[in-house]
Amino acid sequence: ATLYEQLGGEAAVNAAVDIFYRKVLNDHRINRFFDNTDMDKQAAKQKAFLTMAFGGPNNYSGADMRRAHAHLVKNLGLDDSHFDAVVENLATTLQELNVPDALIQQVAAIAESTRNDVLDR
Ligand code: HEM
Repeated sequence: ATLYEQLGGEAAVNAAVDIFYRKVLNDHRINRFFDNTDMDKQAAKQKAFLTMAFGGPNNYSGADMRRAHAHLVKNLGLDDSHFDAVVENLATTLQELNVPDALIQQVAAIAESTRNDVLDR
């Protein structure tokens, strides 16, 4: 089974992304990056992106990770510490949803694989 299926498919990924962004918006290390973001649209894009990244259906039509975040690096100083905080919020979310550690590690590895693109280097 794909990671997407093992996580519980569409309902599980959607629930996880909603909880994840609630955490992100309450996290003072990183919430300033989202000050001008439409969070409904953002959550929809993130659901589609993670669904694709986890091996589910590919309906992602947003920007690639470098283009999506380059302005944050340039104008707001997005760096590794912020990336680490995002990965931490994602892992905590999955822990709260009782996702097994082995699957959380796979999710973290996929998130990690985007780091250099997100940080434009
Ligand atoms: C935009 C995914 C890391 C903040 C996006 C989009 C996706 C995404 C799919 C939408 C792109 C589009 O608009 O077409 C990810 C993934 C990450 C990651 C998979 C790493 C695992 C981060 C980090 C931050 C961040 C570390 C800041 C702490 C944002 C913001 C936007 C964005 C502010 C733009 C929202 C807007 O246009 O208003 N990201 N992201 N992301 N991301 Fe990320």
